[in-house]
Amino acid sequence: MVKHFLDLHEIDAADLRKMIDDGIKVKKARAGKPKGTKDDDKSLEGYTLAAIFEKPSTRTRVSFDMAMRQLGGDAMVLNSGDLQLGRGETVEDTAKVLSRFVDAIMIRTDAHSKLTELAKHATIPVINGLTNDSHPCQLMADVMTFEEHKGSIKNKIIAWSGDGNNMVTSWIHAAAKFDFEFRIACPEELNPDQRALDWAREVGANVHVTRSAEEAAVGADCLVTDTWVSMGDDAGDRHNLLAPFQIDEKLMEKAASDAIFMHCLPAHREEEATAAVMDGPQSVIFDEAENRLHAQKAVLRWCLNAAS
Ligand code: CP
Ligand code: NVA
Repeated sequence: MVKHFLDLHEIDAADLRKMIDDGIKVKKARAGKPKGTKDDDKSLEGYTLAAIFEKPSTRTRVSFDMAMRQLGGDAMVLNSGDLQLGRGETVEDTAKVLSRFVDAIMIRTDAHSKLTELAKHATIPVINGLTNDSHPCQLMADVMTFEEHKGSIKNKIIAWSGDGNNMVTSWIHAAAKFDFEFRIACPEELNPDQRALDWAREVGANVHVTRSAEEAAVGADCLVTDTWVSMGDDAGDRHNLLAPFQIDEKLMEKAASDAIFMHCLPAHREEEATAAVMDGPQSVIFDEAENRLHAQKAVLRWCLNAAS
């Protein structure tokens, strides 16, 4: 059976836990080695990833490419405008053709249905590199980063303050799979995806929505946010609606004294979070960015049954 990595709620909790542990293992294997050091681990040798981008990216683009290279494999980074997909070839035909050439596909796209359509017709693993609906690879790096700083995420409190966007959906899925409390503070107009909230209720996840950033933050182990205007969104009235949800030092003080601050990046200082928080002592944003590389090595190894 082909193992796609499309969304966290569809993947067994035990498999997700194994991937986090594998990410930590591959990170340790490179720790302290100088730049230019070759990995001993060549578990992806012979494999090639096609990484397709229909939206901009810095972290996802570079981390997937480097993950493949460091584990002995290859990656082709393809902008959709350079593919026939960009001028009307169907997702179905693209899936079938790429399945003849490469071993796995990662796609960053707008409509989530394009991702699921690609997976439906591909005979090789498909990985979600972000859609309008979700960003599961980021959550693997985020859980890994949280655990590096704070120990097991089980029963911990994560508080989101900001737009109820694609990141929130993946955090909701992660809350159920990794068994932590997830509080979401957002304006009513920018509520999280109702399907994700309904799913959380069905599976009994510890997920709550509030209109008060302070209420969400009290005693939390981590405050987290994201850009106010995601790729493809209109700014509209977002800056006014989201102003009360900015994470500043005062809000950080409501959280546990040893709480961390997370943000998937790219960030806009003085919008969703102040520079004092973003670049302050509680911020772990660059560990989060680095962990995209390690966590995605684990995702790739899981998809390709190649964990060493
Ligand atoms: N966090 C994240 O996915 O970053 P990029 O948009 O740079 O890939
Ligand atoms: N919510 C953001 C995440 C970027 C990594 C977006 O979709 O643009």
